[in-house]
Amino acid sequence: MQQGSFDFATPPSQQSFAPGAWFLRGFACDQTEAVSMALAAVVAAAPFRHMHTPGGLRMSVAMSNCGTVGWVTDERGYRYLRHDPVSGAAWPAMPFAFAQLAERAAAAAGYPQFVADACLINRYEPGARMTLHQDRNERDMTSPIVSVSLGLPATFLFGGLARTDPTQRLSLAHGDVLVWGGPSRLCFHGVLPVRDGTHARLGRCRLNLTFRKAG
Ligand code: SIN
Ligand code: FE2
Repeated sequence: MQQGSFDFATPPSQQSFAPGAWFLRGFACDQTEAVSMALAAVVAAAPFRHMHTPGGLRMSVAMSNCGTVGWVTDERGYRYLRHDPVSGAAWPAMPFAFAQLAERAAAAAGYPQFVADACLINRYEPGARMTLHQDRNERDMTSPIVSVSLGLPATFLFGGLARTDPTQRLSLAHGDVLVWGGPSRLCFHGVLPVRDGTHARLGRCRLNLTFRKAG
């Protein structure tokens, strides 16, 4: 399916928003309970923490990871580590419900056989945001990024390969999934400050899982 084309075989819930980039609206809706339960076990072992940018700024988003490697940032830079620097232990294993969801979403977006080895978990409380950035610390740029949104809604910004390129705005709700890869793999993206509210299942926060092939 080409970007922008549309026919009756394509449910309106699956939309291409850039070359190689797909918005799978509601794709995770029937799995949010299983995913939330698995998530609770992961963050019990590797609690959310506010990391610092290499420039010393505290991030408004709280983070954790699961998988064989986890993304971290501190004064030494952005990178993937095999161990949680807070506990010194290996990151929690990727729950089956996570791996299965990521693989299915990638396949639905035209990336069969995606095997994520890392999942960065972001927690946004009202006001938290993610400034425009590229996901470029992964070794494998042939695999897409799969992003699953839970809880409070948010406005996602998706730009081009240069920071100053114009951005489009996508409204993300509980159960929505984005997949970007191929020509869009290194596109700048970010999240506007999350507006205050209370989600029926997750309370006063937005959670986002991004699956990557990092190692
Ligand atoms: C990210 O780019 O790592 C987070 C994206 C999101 O929270 O939707
Ligand atoms: Fe990102």
